[in-house]
Amino acid sequence: MKVLVIGGAGYIGSHVVKALIKSGHEVTVFDNLSSGLRENLFDDAGFIEGNILNSEQLDAAFASASFDAAVHLAAFKGAGESMFKPEKYSVNNITGTINILNSMCAAGVKKLVFSSSAAVFGEPEYLPIDEDHPKNPENYYGFTKLEIERFLAWYDRLKGLKFAALRYFNAAGYDIDGELCGLEQNPANLLPVIMEAAAGMREKLQIFGDDYDTPDGTGVRDYVHVTDLADGHVKALDYISREGESLVVNLGSENGISVLELLEDARKISGSKIPAEITGRRPGDPAKLVASSAKAKELLGWEAKYSDCETLVRTSWDVYKRQVKL
Ligand code: UD1
Repeated sequence: MKVLVIGGAGYIGSHVVKALIKSGHEVTVFDNLSSGLRENLFDDAGFIEGNILNSEQLDAAFASASFDAAVHLAAFKGAGESMFKPEKYSVNNITGTINILNSMCAAGVKKLVFSSSAAVFGEPEYLPIDEDHPKNPENYYGFTKLEIERFLAWYDRLKGLKFAALRYFNAAGYDIDGELCGLEQNPANLLPVIMEAAAGMREKLQIFGDDYDTPDGTGVRDYVHVTDLADGHVKALDYISREGESLVVNLGSENGISVLELLEDARKISGSKIPAEITGRRPGDPAKLVASSAKAKELLGWEAKYSDCETLVRTSWDVYKRQVKL
C-alpha cells in the first residue's frame, strides 16, 4: 500500500516507517521536523516537509500520490507540560488531527492508524488495564487523545473512515537492528533520562518517589519496545484493510517494571554508576500501570517480543553509549 506517515521523522514514527518498508509498503513521510530529525528519514521513503496546522500543505501532500492509508503520529506528548500549556496541545493535537481528517476525506483516503495513549485511562481502577477500563484522563495530553478517538468514531460513522487507535503504554528502547539512532532532545521519559545520566549527558536521575504501594516503592510501568510498537502499526493497518472495520486497542507488554529495576539493569549494562536521588512524587503519576494486550493478540496476532527490561536497556545503551566523551 502507499502510506503517508505523518510525524514519520520522530522517535516512534521512524520505527514505524522502517517496519512498513520492511513489510513491502511504499512510504512517504510528512513532518515539520520540529522534534523529528532528518537523520531519522529513510532513503527508500519519500519526504514532504510540512505542518499539520497548514491545511494547504496537507492537501498538497495527500494530492501528491494516490495514498491508500495514513499513519498519524504528529503530536506533542509532554503529559506534564500539557497541564500548564493546554493551548499548545489543543491546537497541535486536536486541530492538527482535524486538519488531517479533513484532508484525508477530501483526497478519498479512508484508512488511518492513529497514535493514542494509555493516558486516556487516568488513575487505574483495576489492573491489568483492558480497553473497556473507564477513561478519566489525569492530564490534558490524555484528554486530547481521548477526544481524537471520539472524532475518529464520528468520521467512521459519517465518512466511512476506518481507523485503528493504538493506545501505547510506555514506549521505550531503540531499533532492534541498531539502524535508527536519532536521540530525542531534552527527553523527560524515564529510560532516555537514565541513559543520559549513564552517558554523562546529565548529572543524575531524579527518582520521583519511593513510597508508592509497589514492591520497591517506585513507580511501575508497562514499557513496550518501540520495535514491537512499530510492528503493531503494520498489523493494525493489515487489520483495517482486511476486515474493513475500525479498531481501538492497547499495545503493552503486560509486564510491570519499576524505576529501580530499570535503573539497576541500566547500571549493569552500561557499567556506569548512574547517580540517582530520590525526590518527591511527580503530580499525576499513578503507582502502577500495566496493560492487558489480549485484544491485540486476538485480533492482530500481536505480542511484545522485545519488551523485556534487558532488551529495552541494551538497545537504548547501544545508541547512547556513542555520546560518552572519552
Ligand atoms: C506519560 C503518559 C504516557 C505518555 C508518556 C509520553 C500518563 C499516565 N502517561 O507516561 O501516556 O505516552 O508520558 O511522554 O500520562 N520517572 C522518574 N524520573 C524521571 C522520569 C520518570 O522517576 O526523570 C518515573 C515516573 O514517576 C514514572 C516512570 O518513571 O513512574 C515513567 O515515567 P515517564 O517515562 O515520564 O512516563 P509516564 O509518565 O508513565
